[in-house]
Amino acid sequence: MKQSEVAPATGKLGIMVVGCGAVSTTFITGVLMARKGLAKPIGAMTQYDKIRVGKNAEKKYLHYKDIVPLAELKDIVFATWDVYPQNAYQATIYAEVLQPKDIEPVRDELEAIRPLKAAFDKNYAKRIDGDNVKTCLTRWEMVEELRQDIRNFKQQTRCSRVVVLWAASTEIYVPYNKQYHKTLAQLEQAMKDDVREQIAPSMCYAYAALAESCPFIMGAPNTTVDIPAMWEFAEKMRMPIAGKDFKTGQTLVKSGFAPIIKTRNLGLAGWFSTNILGNRDGLVLDEPANFHTKEVSKLSTLETICKADEQPDLYGDIYHKVRINYYPPRNDNKEGWDNIDIFGWMGYPMQIKINFLCRDSILAAPLLLDLALLSDLAARAGRYGTQRFLSFFMKSPMHDYTCGEEAVNNLFEQYTMLKNAIREIGGYEADEEID
Ligand SMILES: NC(=O)c1ccc[n+]([C@@H]2O[C@H](COP(=O)([O-])OP(=O)(O)OC[C@H]3O[C@@H](n4cnc5c(N)ncnc54)[C@H](O)[C@@H]3O)[C@@H](O)[C@H]2O)c1
Repeated sequence: MKQSEVAPATGKLGIMVVGCGAVSTTFITGVLMARKGLAKPIGAMTQYDKIRVGKNAEKKYLHYKDIVPLAELKDIVFATWDVYPQNAYQATIYAEVLQPKDIEPVRDELEAIRPLKAAFDKNYAKRIDGDNVKTCLTRWEMVEELRQDIRNFKQQTRCSRVVVLWAASTEIYVPYNKQYHKTLAQLEQAMKDDVREQIAPSMCYAYAALAESCPFIMGAPNTTVDIPAMWEFAEKMRMPIAGKDFKTGQTLVKSGFAPIIKTRNLGLAGWFSTNILGNRDGLVLDEPANFHTKEVSKLSTLETICKADEQPDLYGDIYHKVRINYYPPRNDNKEGWDNIDIFGWMGYPMQIKINFLCRDSILAAPLLLDLALLSDLAARAGRYGTQRFLSFFMKSPMHDYTCGEEAVNNLFEQYTMLKNAIREIGGYEADEEID
């Protein structure tokens, strides 16, 4: 594809974020500060990364924006939905992630972002208790109201394109059910029949976004767009989708570290990951049904990197355990511990310990920016359906599990996929040459 086939990023880009909590307010505040020149968007690939294009004498290293037409920070307008009515300024203060000096210069802009009423069902997040909620009778009505929200936002802000990102609480686990989630017709019928235990509110947001020709990104581990019916809808609407679950702290480390073990053909006996966090996300995940959604997502990483069937001697019997403990004193400053039991020559055991003192929302914010800009780019480049090149940002990357396709979890393979997509959209050849 030649870059000329990619529609230019003209006009404003609307970013509608589901959830006005710690992650979304850290993201929004950071973008508003960065475009005033008061903060740096560190960690965002679209703002910092340089990749090689061309080979040999032709080769050069360029920022993404010099290869493909990306929306600029100055052209972004925000909206959110939340169960709590606090505006984005109040929500940023509540989250206690950022210091006043990093919030006050954009206070007016944050105060102007008042969350739209949420499409919410308390059965999906029992620990959330706000009243800024739509009073819909059925799931289909939820969809209709959300579609209206998107249309209103587009009209009021005069933005030419909108991307919808989910950064709301993790819902309870809704496993893929062939009776309701296989085809688009089934899904739509279940929404109209109001089958609440099969149709999570997040599915209504995703459906509404796609119906309004907006890319949809799932930042939590919710099943939502990771079902064949949604893949079908994304293809029908020719819109990009990606998920699931932002890859930020412990899983980022895991998907970057496991390749060391694999590349050196060392054995892996067990990997125990535990962490403490005390923000509202931690509170929601303290509920076993919500934690299970996260657990499924976090557990999927290792087995596709250290594969038992390819190396039974090395990876045939891995004990993989993930725990999250709600511990309020730490708020957003999560601490993660990983104990890795490996074995080497003649089976002799060794241990590796990793202690990551991170900041959850500080790690997540740049991912939201990258995912918004890159899914907007994908839409303009005519790419639709599951965007595998965005797996780099995801803990549990979407893939077609109905036909045995495996997810790519290895961070470095994911990075190659990301770089190649940028190259291809920019009219260069995809390749795997060592940089
Ligand atoms: N921070 C990270 O490192 C990280 C990494 C991966 C995934 N995530 C996920 O991102 C999400 C957001 O995390 P956070 O720390 O900002 O949580 P948070 O609790 O601070 O914010 C989530 C917000 O979503 C709102 N909400 C819940 N259900 C909603 C609905 N149906 N519609 C609209 N709003 C709704 C809640 O009221 C809350 O304000 C969580 O699902 C979390 O698991 C975070």
